[in-house]
Amino acid sequence: MERFQDRVVLVTGATGGIGTEICSRLAAEGAVVVAADLPGTPLEEVVSSLPDGPRLTTPHQAAPHQAAPHQAAPHQTVELDVASEEQWTSAVTRIIEAHGRLDALVNNAGIGSLKTLEDESPEHWQRVIDVDQTGVWLGMKHAGTAIERTGGGAIVNVCSILGSVGGFGNSFAYHAAKGAVRTMSKNAAMHWATKGVRVNSLHPGFIETPQLLERYEGSDRHRGMVAGTPMGRLGTPAEIAGCVAFLASDDAGFMTGGELYADGGWTAR
Ligand code: NAI
Repeated sequence: MERFQDRVVLVTGATGGIGTEICSRLAAEGAVVVAADLPGTPLEEVVSSLPDGPRLTTPHQAAPHQAAPHQAAPHQTVELDVASEEQWTSAVTRIIEAHGRLDALVNNAGIGSLKTLEDESPEHWQRVIDVDQTGVWLGMKHAGTAIERTGGGAIVNVCSILGSVGGFGNSFAYHAAKGAVRTMSKNAAMHWATKGVRVNSLHPGFIETPQLLERYEGSDRHRGMVAGTPMGRLGTPAEIAGCVAFLASDDAGFMTGGELYADGGWTAR
């Protein structure tokens, strides 16, 4: 299946456990992937492991009576702190310079927080909000506008079950940010409803990334994650990447402002 043939897709947090898998899945389906992450992350490694050979039609290079030539369009890396509006502006400029278009955005970058409402500090709270909430807004503001100019496309905001339910009674700032992502996605969906830009939030349950296992394997929290999941296991990054690909593709053409849960039944209880 080549649902993303001729499409340019920007993925933030591209070198993380879930982001890497999203890039692979989209590239396997024909996308030109723009992998974005913080400076110092292994962006080149991620991009060089992606399937080769995406080819992008560049109509502006063809005379009107000629078939549009195809040129190899390699995947691209972009250093981007999603909390910085300045960096969003320059990232989107570089993408448009390189490819002339942007078809989809996956707002996947995120940071965690285990603190409760009582032990959270204003400084740490602010950083979580800056990355997990403001980062998603800035992504929609700059990349979403570029998608609209391209003629339409999709935004997938990687949220969490913790954006909808109370979880373990901790991770307070994370819940605040992800809860905002859920409703910001709906508001953005209304804003672009007739302009061809679809916006949906994706709510993973607990996903077995290498980073999560490193941090929690064998802990009470890990046991709580498995015990609270009706399917009796954590999800895989590939299962989340499959949902991202669906929401970003035309198969989800009538979905906007929606919430997709991939949580092994956690929120169905
Ligand atoms: P991860 O920690 O493996 O990856 C997060 C990525 O975001 C990293 O590559 C990191 O460098 C990047 N990042 C952090 N701050 C950034 C910033 N300011 N600007 C740009 N990039 C930044 O985490 P994971 O598990 O891959 O999570 C991806 C998304 O999925 C996050 O939004 C997370 O909240 C969400 N999620 C993850 C779940 C899980 O169980 N792993 C469950 C539900 C949601």
